Amino acid sequence: MKKILVVGSGGREHALVWKLSSSQHISKIYCASGNAGIAHLTECISINPDDITGLAKFAEKESIDLTIVGPEIPLTMGIVDSFRQRGLPIFGPDSQAAELEGSKVFAKEFMKKYNIPTADYQIFFSPDKAKKYVLDHGAPLTIKADGLAAGKGVFLAMTEKSALDAIETIMVKKAFGNAGKRIVIEEFLRGEEASLIVFTDGKTILPMPFSQDHKAVYEGDKGPNTGGMGAYSPAPVATPAVREKAMERIMMPAIKGMAAEGRTYKGILYAGLMIVDGEPRLLEFNVRFGDPETQPLLMRMKSDMLPVLESVIENNLQEVEFEWDPRPAVCVVMASSGYPGSYEKGKVISGLKEVEQMENTQVFHAGTAFKNGQVVTNGGRVLGVTALGETIQKAIDQTYEAVSKIDWEGVYYRRDIGNKALGHN
Ligand code: AMP
Ligand code: GLY
Repeated sequence: MKKILVVGSGGREHALVWKLSSSQHISKIYCASGNAGIAHLTECISINPDDITGLAKFAEKESIDLTIVGPEIPLTMGIVDSFRQRGLPIFGPDSQAAELEGSKVFAKEFMKKYNIPTADYQIFFSPDKAKKYVLDHGAPLTIKADGLAAGKGVFLAMTEKSALDAIETIMVKKAFGNAGKRIVIEEFLRGEEASLIVFTDGKTILPMPFSQDHKAVYEGDKGPNTGGMGAYSPAPVATPAVREKAMERIMMPAIKGMAAEGRTYKGILYAGLMIVDGEPRLLEFNVRFGDPETQPLLMRMKSDMLPVLESVIENNLQEVEFEWDPRPAVCVVMASSGYPGSYEKGKVISGLKEVEQMENTQVFHAGTAFKNGQVVTNGGRVLGVTALGETIQKAIDQTYEAVSKIDWEGVYYRRDIGNKALGHN
């Protein structure tokens, strides 16, 4: 029987803990640092996800058999390198491999080198040169901070003015600190997005079903980007032809390319795709499970996940098979109004007990905490309400029925999660 440590405190980590809790091979799961929902399932420890030394000491003391990392920051900081040096088993890419998410400049140059289809781009070190480029080329353009910015460093500029404002925000006002020292300006792609998330041991690639996120804060994909306002799986935009092209033109060259660069990639690799007229183009790599895509994906995963994680570490992923529930799953993120800007915390959440009784439905907590024996809001994204249904429409209806039972002062959620899937029927 194994002891597991899950690092992170969001909806993705709640889903990971929930899924691993059903494994017959696991006796104990710790989560650092968790939230109110995770604390309901397992033991949370108050070590920050980016306190790598603290986590390593804990893993040594408790003889943890496997550590799984949710967020990108500890991965880019080198948690995997540090655990490996101490002989502690850990699932995820090392810091060299995690550059694929840690630096958009690195990722774009890598895509170019290995002929991975992506948006055309230019890299800028100076705001003046970037602004001149905008004036020469006109809008629409996509302006991206190089480094990590919690999903908020990407600006979709439909006008020259908003492109110039984005450069000012990132490079002059330094809204994301050093992450904005360099920027990437990209061609604006129009199409439908999909997420391809795979397990890989550096050689074999085991894909999960396609999913689709909803990044923009408002209905109809309006407003600024967030970490993700809802997701569903499968994604009908990913036809069999799209799936094959995405594996052959994007995932396989990426895994081979990283090995050729001496940055062998192990763990989860997430490709954020734009499907343009049936052709997948890569918007970004993430080096971890998606949030909120993980919530519907793990609701659909029938197999025990532990053997998959272990086989990645032991380099024998080719021996593993997956079983998936054919039913679609939908996740609606309930957020604090104001997110992705400023918002209030500490609002009492009602209705959670009632939803616990609903079949095929899970409420994954993201930003929640306990206060005076009650569950209160404690972040921008608060809950990921997720349900399975026989059809995508039924999954949507079931999810929104659960959402309608939950409330707090200032709750906000999109009412159109899953609608794009219906458009493909
Ligand atoms: P990224 O973090 O690079 O995936 O960007 C976040 C989101 O911005 C993506 O999920 C897309 O919704 C949007 N986006 C990024 N790059 C582009 C692009 N070149 N064209 C259109 N939309 C984009
Ligand atoms: N759902 C987008 C992300 O995890 O980055």
